[in-house]
Amino acid sequence: MGSLLQILLGLFISVIGALYLLGSFRRRRAGEPPLDKGPIPWLGHVLEFRKDTAKFLQRMKEKHGDIFTVQLGGFYFTFITDPHSFGSVVKEARTKLDFTKFAEQLVARVFGYHSLQNEHKFLQASSTKHLMGDGLVVMTQAMMCNLQNLMLHNVGSGDDKLWQETGLFAYSYNIVFRAGYLALFGNESLKSTGTLEKAKEIDRQHSNELFWEFRKYDQLFPNLAYSVLGPSEKMEAERLKRLFWNTLSVQKMRSRDNISGWVHEQQQVRAEQGMQEFMQDRYMFLLLWASQGNTGPAAFWLLLYLMKHPEAMKSIKSEVEQVLRETGQGAKQGGPLIDLTRDMLLKTPILDSAVEETLRLTAAPVLTRAVMQDMTIKMANGQEYKIREGDRVAIFPYTAVQVDPEVYPDPFIFKYDRFLTPDGSKKTDFYKGGKKLKYYNMPWGAGTTMCPGRFFATNELKQFVFLMLSYFDLELKNPNEEIPGIDIRRWGFGSMQPTKDIQFRYRLRF
Ligand code: HEM
Repeated sequence: MGSLLQILLGLFISVIGALYLLGSFRRRRAGEPPLDKGPIPWLGHVLEFRKDTAKFLQRMKEKHGDIFTVQLGGFYFTFITDPHSFGSVVKEARTKLDFTKFAEQLVARVFGYHSLQNEHKFLQASSTKHLMGDGLVVMTQAMMCNLQNLMLHNVGSGDDKLWQETGLFAYSYNIVFRAGYLALFGNESLKSTGTLEKAKEIDRQHSNELFWEFRKYDQLFPNLAYSVLGPSEKMEAERLKRLFWNTLSVQKMRSRDNISGWVHEQQQVRAEQGMQEFMQDRYMFLLLWASQGNTGPAAFWLLLYLMKHPEAMKSIKSEVEQVLRETGQGAKQGGPLIDLTRDMLLKTPILDSAVEETLRLTAAPVLTRAVMQDMTIKMANGQEYKIREGDRVAIFPYTAVQVDPEVYPDPFIFKYDRFLTPDGSKKTDFYKGGKKLKYYNMPWGAGTTMCPGRFFATNELKQFVFLMLSYFDLELKNPNEEIPGIDIRRWGFGSMQPTKDIQFRYRLRF
């Protein structure tokens, strides 16, 4: 789960889930006048939607085609399933299709956070400055230092020479969450510890404790979003929320070193706008949620696919070795730790393709917009559909395009080089109905709300895999174990999680 939107997506799903009982489903035809009150609720759909959103939407797509409307209590949600027509939603002006209004209401309801007036503008400005371009160079460096601390602090001590056995999901999520958290929210202050070693040790310990609390919240999240938590779970969710508000509070942040420009600036903007400090603390939890819930699960899938596909592993290992050779680095006994820069990460087209393929298979957000005025949706085939003010428009790219066999042959098979051209550059030509697609893979969403952390997230994934492959031998405990299924309760929440963990072993290569 993770991104701000994810929260919203979760909430969106929760709205759907909760209200569907009152709802009905029908296809809206071209030029049809606004829908009247729907027929009797179709209970079969409620259960089907809640049970498996992707399956439900896939079935609706097969039955009703490019566009259909689901009535959900007070709202009509029109789903667009033709990827050639996505532009008419994601590029529409905010005066007609707006994301923020809808999002702000949901965040206020579930996180108790009340947005600033120019909330989205501030987020975009500081993300462009600190998570892209030159800002990304700094973030990549911070991520590297923290990955080194978490993954390699034992190198040289002899402890890592023995096989360590653990769950691949727990391991990947743990390391990527903790390094990402420390890179964004800063490190233990040297002033308080006196030595760097002590500060690093506290970073390891504190981030680990925080991770396990985060996982508790993470696990409660689907039911929290569906508003179906039991009383004790509700209390636990409340406890965790307060714990995060407190741990990430502005007051505590003041004494940390190396807080990222992204986090610092967003806190500062809110303070300057006169937001009360307790509200700023709540925003910090939103930022943590947005930044840390997706990348860890994605790291798990990426590493697992590589371990299950030896030809992919071999290609990527040789790409990694080449990049290291070119910069005169290597994982060696007693040598300096590998330092991956932003520039080095720009020279890995094969790994880029594997990352994109992983996200195609395992990132499944729902994009939602509120309809601000009566308007017409123009489909790519020329058909027009009237949408009323107050309705919602939604896209679920996973079933609409990411696993469409016409766009991706054998759509459920991991092909590490799917996003590579024969000459080894990035492939961007994908077709449906003989026409080139602009929107062929949408793990990050699209339009103005497109994930602002996508370049940083991609770097995090690549740095993690790079270090794993350079420093460690790794193998699955049971090489024949099947790739686990996707936890279907989390459709629409961003990066998907597996139904179960997979045991693996790793040990230092030298
Ligand atoms: C694999 C990792 C990630 C995935 C799959 C992912 C996915 C997404 C998606 C689908 C959205 C909504 C886009 C839309 O509505 O069109 C989103 C929004 C967002 N993401 Fe990410 N994300 C990831 C990592 C990150 C990271 C590392 C950060 C920050 C460092 C981040 C920060 C955000 C923020 C702040 C938003 C809200 C944007 C807005 O409201 O305009 N994400 N993410």
